[in-house]
Amino acid sequence: MSAPVLEIADLSVRYRTPKGPAFAVDSIGFNLMPRERLGLVGESGSGKSTTVLALMRMIRPPGEISARHMRLEGRDVLALSTEELRRTRFARMSLVPQGAMSSLNPVLTIGAQFADLFAAHGQKSDTARIAKLLARVGLPAHVSSRFPHELSGGMKQRVCIALAIALTPAVILADEPTSALDVVVQKQVLATLGRVQQEIGAAIILIGHDMALMAHFVDRIGVMYAGRLVETGPVKSVFAAPKHPYTKMLIGALPSLTEKRAFQGIPGVPPSLTDRPPGCPFQTRCPAADARCRAEAPALRQVGAAHDAACHFAEAA
Ligand SMILES: Nc1ncnc2c1ncn2[C@@H]1O[C@H](COP(=O)(O)OP(=O)(O)OP(=O)(O)O)[C@@H](O)[C@H]1O
Ligand SMILES: [Mg+2]
Repeated sequence: MSAPVLEIADLSVRYRTPKGPAFAVDSIGFNLMPRERLGLVGESGSGKSTTVLALMRMIRPPGEISARHMRLEGRDVLALSTEELRRTRFARMSLVPQGAMSSLNPVLTIGAQFADLFAAHGQKSDTARIAKLLARVGLPAHVSSRFPHELSGGMKQRVCIALAIALTPAVILADEPTSALDVVVQKQVLATLGRVQQEIGAAIILIGHDMALMAHFVDRIGVMYAGRLVETGPVKSVFAAPKHPYTKMLIGALPSLTEKRAFQGIPGVPPSLTDRPPGCPFQTRCPAADARCRAEAPALRQVGAAHDAACHFAEAA
């Protein structure tokens, strides 16, 4: 067995706020194997983006990161110097940030943005290299001379993916890389992302809202709720036998093509990240919550083959 590319234990991100610390990411842990595809799902505000920003050490004050360990290819990311970090980003681990297309520099051509990336890593850039990268994501070479505003949303997302793979990183973090696109383009862009990820042999963490789209793409899924990882396991077992009531609701909330019922959200709201009541964070929305759930927070524990859940009733599920 090869070693994991990412090893994360007790990763937390706190934002200092006037109401006290907000626990945006609360002691999460997981490993990512080479070439593995992990999906992170959860409602808005559950801490998905904060998690991948923390992995890139891109959390800015008033945010603070802490972890028992956070290793990329065996190296402690939290111990890297600013210069080491600069050399690591994109080269060993890259991020397609949420709303990536608006992160493209509006006053530079696409080619100039590739050239900047190569220069920042002491590498030579030439038109053939850029054309090859663009071709990999299904874009013609002339896109290089275009400005971002001259491209469609789907084309811009492809450019962001090409930038993310340009230096053949070991890990790609893709934060909702298709959410601003229409359904057909979403599927095409995701297929491209999956293909280039396999070609360069990278592992990927894909963040998404669409459980159905996710199920087709990833090997393993992690469900986040109120900053915690509440269930993780192989995508097949999580879909076939979800153990956490929140995961069940997320899957139950999948709009079905056959039943034409209206899409139902999950009733209730997540707890405040600053004023956290004792017990399970899901208790106020959980149909099964009892006195124990109000008193004691369930730890993430093994409930099946490579399948973990944080619910007192997981075994009964
Ligand atoms: N600078 C900040 N100060 C205080 N709280 C913050 C700050 N940035 C993010 N948060 C909080 O951290 C929590 C997690 O946010 P995050 O963006 O990670 O959620 P998400 O799961 O990516 O949501 P979405 O699906 O909407 O993208 C949210 O409650 C958010 O309000
Ligand atoms: Mg987000």
